[in-house]
Amino acid sequence: MNQDLESIVAALVVRGKGILAADETVPTLTKRFDSLGIQSTEESRRTYREMLFSATGAAEFVSGVIMADETIRQKNSGGMPLAEFLSNQGILPGIKVDTGAKPLAGLSGESVTEGLDGLRDRLRAYHDMGARFAKWRAIIAITDTLPSQACVSANAHALGRYAALCQEQRLVPIVEPEVLMNGSHAIGRCEEVTGAVLHAVFRALFEQGVSLESMLLKPNMVVAGTACPNPASLQEVATATLRCLRRHVPAAVPGIVFLSGGQDDRLATTHLNAINQLPGSKPWTISFSYGRALQDAALEAWCGREENLKAGQQALYHRSRCNGAASLGKYIDEMEVEAADAASPLHRHGWHDD
Ligand code: 13P
Repeated sequence: MNQDLESIVAALVVRGKGILAADETVPTLTKRFDSLGIQSTEESRRTYREMLFSATGAAEFVSGVIMADETIRQKNSGGMPLAEFLSNQGILPGIKVDTGAKPLAGLSGESVTEGLDGLRDRLRAYHDMGARFAKWRAIIAITDTLPSQACVSANAHALGRYAALCQEQRLVPIVEPEVLMNGSHAIGRCEEVTGAVLHAVFRALFEQGVSLESMLLKPNMVVAGTACPNPASLQEVATATLRCLRRHVPAAVPGIVFLSGGQDDRLATTHLNAINQLPGSKPWTISFSYGRALQDAALEAWCGREENLKAGQQALYHRSRCNGAASLGKYIDEMEVEAADAASPLHRHGWHDD
């Protein structure tokens, strides 16, 4: 069984490729559509996903796509299920299986990600629909006093149980504990919290008997809070991130695929590149599993119009190519020339992910 899962993991973190997270829930995608004046209907969301999944050349840099429940049930315009459409291009279909972060009782400002009830049956059904890997996102907020131990351990426990169930059902679990960027904290505090969270998560994975060889970790990078008066430099982010991962992620994990977390898309690429360029031991493949940092430019270029489909696909291709290079530490600024005007517009601020 694990042989199977290990070959899926190997295909996901194959050299020069990463994962496209296109698993926004209907309410989240609707918010993004709203900010651009795009009407959100089942059909417009389907069209958007099909645009992304059929971008010419993207498969060169994208090994897997994470879908939402609505999307994995949809078909392309030729009537082929989107999961099959991806597989035919050599892209592994994945599925978001948590049901979202809910407030933790008695702990103001903190949440626990839910979705364990009935998960075994849902995983079985998703596998039948073609999914080969899954994602579960826990979120941890930083303030002067948070996170609480209760929040960290509840989320770690849920991630452990989710991952064990995935492996039982022959799906590779992507374990995503996201320490949020919101706040005025300095980079050192993010490193401290990220380290404590990773420690708790790997303890829970061990307790639940999860095979580390058959999973991927999807962490945040170690950065200063978005409202921190002293933003960290590129080198500081890369150094603190790699130090934190070396301290807390076992070498048996084959791959680390970062989330972008609301970073500007080019900065997310630059950070990934800088981390991969650092010398010293990196026992895991380090790549991307970006949502916003891959999709923002494509969504804006498309803007819901048929005549912009090609432009949207080119934007996705471009960011995938840049991030593919960054996963090898070979990204250079000149690669951006063709997208020089894709600066982050105001309406993107405050966007959140699932
Ligand atoms: P972002 O890259 O936009 O953070 O999304 C990644 C993701 O999958 C969040 O769960």
